[in-house]
Amino acid sequence: SQLRSSDVRTDNSPLQIFVKAKKRINDIFVDIEKYVEETVEFMTSLQNDRNIVTTEEAAKVKNYIDKVRGIKDVLRRDHMKVAFFGRTSNGKSTVINAMLRDKILPSGIGHTTNCFLQVEGSDNGESYLITEGSTEKQPVQSVGQLGHALCKEKLCESHLVRIFWPKEKCLLLRDDVVFVDSPGVDVTPNLDEWIDKHCLDADVFILVANAESTLMVTEKNFFHKVSTRLSKPNIFILNNRWDASASEPEFFDQVRAQHQNRAIDFLSRELKVYSPKDAEERVFFISAKETLQARMQEQRGQPAHNGALADGFQNRYFEFQDFERKFEECISKSAVKTKFEQHSQRGKHIATEIRQALDEILDRTKEMRTEQLNIKKEVHDKLNFTEQQLMLLTQEMKDKIHRIVEDVEQRVSKALSE
Ligand code: GTP
Ligand code: MG
Repeated sequence: SQLRSSDVRTDNSPLQIFVKAKKRINDIFVDIEKYVEETVEFMTSLQNDRNIVTTEEAAKVKNYIDKVRGIKDVLRRDHMKVAFFGRTSNGKSTVINAMLRDKILPSGIGHTTNCFLQVEGSDNGESYLITEGSTEKQPVQSVGQLGHALCKEKLCESHLVRIFWPKEKCLLLRDDVVFVDSPGVDVTPNLDEWIDKHCLDADVFILVANAESTLMVTEKNFFHKVSTRLSKPNIFILNNRWDASASEPEFFDQVRAQHQNRAIDFLSRELKVYSPKDAEERVFFISAKETLQARMQEQRGQPAHNGALADGFQNRYFEFQDFERKFEECISKSAVKTKFEQHSQRGKHIATEIRQALDEILDRTKEMRTEQLNIKKEVHDKLNFTEQQLMLLTQEMKDKIHRIVEDVEQRVSKALSE
């Protein structure tokens, strides 16, 4: 209800690709779990019955219950992760706030963000934060203090503070997008640690560049490092602070072309993550500050544009929305592939293994049946034979007795006649 009508793209949002896939794969694993449980029950009953199933076989299938439950847990927690990097003060935190439509993360001049801040959706409308290594929920008012470099309570710059923000306040959070804000890449000697800790499971990276200057070596180096660790990372480049171009209209086209060419060159020729043509779709010229202001105005029911904004605001605002759309498409497709492909392989594997186990049991019981039939037949044949023997024997005896009787009769009559 807090979402404005302009936000209601609910079901045609590209993020739904992920949301629906997640629901489907979760349902499939619920079925697999049931299937495994039933199999275990069945096998246990057979184990007690003439040892048709061995203890090891039953134990093997039983193990799958834990495996399936483990996968189900991971699946429930799976989300799409986007990480923002760039030099100090380029506007990383402001871009995230603009996407969240609220001032959640600390932003300002100078070096502001002093540790990793992860924003994710919370159920039941709660907002709180949790610092690394703790489970204590702290009130969210302290985000500013905790994450701000001027705060006395210093956190290690590679530490992670998780901020939980009500899902209903932003469609991106509702649809399982998790945002990661970072300190400037130019203020740390620990880029490798950052990558190990925060980047390996990111689905999309956003390089927030400063359109007032140009892409810097520190920014480029960071992404070179990332692309040696991840094959073909998804990267967007935002030329932020593009509102500054309004004050130099005579160079507008040239500056834009310069930034555009350098960004495309960086993505295609240097990092080799896209072709030059695809790279074009990954570069945007925006003003995060204006977008955030406009959205906060809209939220208050006022017009986005109060007239005090620099020329070209509308274009920059559209370009921000265009970026969001392309970002949503990219992140949901990528996350489905990286997060669910492995799980579906495992699910298939488990189903096949269980089927094999059941097939083996079926074969075994078939063999046992034929064996029993054979035994029956043998006994039967033996009985037949004995019966026949007996019959023969009886016949023989009968004949013999007959003959004896005849003999006796003959002898008696002979004796009588004599
Ligand atoms: P660190 O956390 O220090 O690394 O900086 P950051 O990249 O998070 O930058 P932040 O979002 O804190 O923005 C720095 C300053 O630039 C703030 O005063 C913002 O209001 C301002 N700013 C951000 N985006 C824009 C923009 O598009 N145009 C203009 N004119 N100012 C902006
Ligand atoms: Mg910041």
